[in-house]
Amino acid sequence: MAKRKKGTQLPPGVHDILPEEQRYWERVRSVSSGLGFRRIDTPIFEFADLFMKSVGAASDIVEKQMYSFRTKGGDKLVLRPEETAPVARAYIVHGMHTLPQPVKLYYEGPMFRYESPQKGRYRQFHQYGVEVLGGESPIVEAQIIQLFFRMFQALKIKVLVEINSIGCKQCRPIYKKILSTYYRSRSRQVCADCRKRSGKNILRVLDCKEEKCQMIKQGAPPIVDHLCDACRNHFKMFLEYVEELDLPFVINHYLVRGLDYYSRTVFEFLPENIDKEEASRAQVALGGGGRYDYLVELLGGRPTPAAGAALGIERLIAYMKQSNIEIESKTKPRVFLIQLGEVAKKKSLKVFDEFIKNKISITESFGKESIDPQLSLANKLGVAYALILGHKEALEETIIIRDMKTGTQRTVPLSDVVKEVKKGLRG
Ligand code: HAM
Repeated sequence: MAKRKKGTQLPPGVHDILPEEQRYWERVRSVSSGLGFRRIDTPIFEFADLFMKSVGAASDIVEKQMYSFRTKGGDKLVLRPEETAPVARAYIVHGMHTLPQPVKLYYEGPMFRYESPQKGRYRQFHQYGVEVLGGESPIVEAQIIQLFFRMFQALKIKVLVEINSIGCKQCRPIYKKILSTYYRSRSRQVCADCRKRSGKNILRVLDCKEEKCQMIKQGAPPIVDHLCDACRNHFKMFLEYVEELDLPFVINHYLVRGLDYYSRTVFEFLPENIDKEEASRAQVALGGGGRYDYLVELLGGRPTPAAGAALGIERLIAYMKQSNIEIESKTKPRVFLIQLGEVAKKKSLKVFDEFIKNKISITESFGKESIDPQLSLANKLGVAYALILGHKEALEETIIIRDMKTGTQRTVPLSDVVKEVKKGLRG
C-alpha cells in the first residue's frame, strides 16, 4: 500500500467516529440522559495547576500524561485529562454551594491523556460521568453505582463492581506508614517502579501489575483493617446499601485508583468475564469513581463532601461490538425521495423540507438522474418507503409511495404525502 502523507495520517491514539458507528454513540447517550442529573460542560482546557493540585503531582496522569502547552501570554494550560476537577472548579466559581444540596451533575465529552496507545487505550477518548457535590451519606456512592448498573443493563453489558475504602486524612497516613514498613523490608523483592513508588506515593504499589510483585501485594496489610471509626462506619453503611441493591460486587482490598483526590469509597466497573490476570485493569476497566470529600476545599472552596464516577465510552462501545450487541440507528432514514427530471427536481426540495418539518427522517440523492441507481440506494439504506416524483407526477401535483418491503406502489396527492407516510410508519 502506498505510504500516506503525514497530513492525511491520524496522530497515534486518536480515532474518527464514522457515520456507521454513530448508532452506538446515540445508544450510550440515550441511556445516559434523563437520570435526574443536570448537564454541565466545561472547557476542553484548564490551567495546569487545577490537575496538579487535584489529580496529584505524583500521579501518572500529571507526571506523564498531560497535554500541556504555554499560551503566548505565558499561561500553562492543559487539555483536560479528566472531568472531576473541572466540575469541582465550576462548583466553586459559580457558587453552587448556594443551590439546594447535593448538586447532581453529569457530563459527556473528550478527555486527553498522553498514554501509549493500545487496544482500549486512546489519547483522546470520551467519558460519561456524574458528580454529586454536597452529599455526605454513603447512599450517594451506592446510588451512583446503581445508576451505572442500570446503564450497563440497558446496554446489555455484564459488569462486576470492585469496591474498597482508602480512608481519610486521619487514618490513611497511619496506614501508609504500615504499608511503607511492610514494603521496606521487602524492597529487594519488588520491581524498580514499586521501589520508586514506596518513596513517593506508597499506595500506588498496590496498583503494580508486575508478576514478581503480586505475591508481595497479596501479603500486604489491607487498608480496611486500619480505617478509623468514622471511615469504617461509612464503609459498613455503604456495603449495606450495595448489598440491598443486589448487584454483583466484590471487595478488592488493593483497589486504590490512580487519582489523588479520592477519600473513603473507591470503586471500579470491570467486564464480568475478562481474564483479569491477562488483561491490564488500565485497559479494560469500563469505569471508575469514588468519594472525594477534600477536593472542593483543596481547590479553594468550602468543605464539601462529594462523590462521582465516569465511564469510558469507547470501551463500552468496543464491548458492545465484541459481544455482537446490535443497535439500530435512531437517525436511520425511513424515507427516500426519488426525483426524475428537471420539473420534479425543482419540486423535490419542498417535499424534502415538509418531511424534515414533520421530523420524519428522509434522505435523497439529488445528484442522480435515473430511477435505478436511486432505488438501489433506497434499498441499501433499508428505508421503509421510497417516494417517486417523476415528470408526470410533478405536473399533476401527485407522488408515488413505494412500500420497500412489499414492492407495492400507490399514487397520492402531493399535499397528502406526509400524512400518508406517517400513517404507514405508525401502522
Ligand atoms: P479514570 O478511572 O481515570 O477516572 O477514568 C474513568 C474511565 O475512563 C476508565 O475506567 C476508562 O473506561 C476510561 N479511560 C480512562 N483513560 C482512558 C484512555 N486512555 N482510553 C480510553 N478510555 C479511558 C476518572 O477519570 C475520574 N474522573 C472518575 C471519577 C468521576 N471519579 C469521581 N468522579
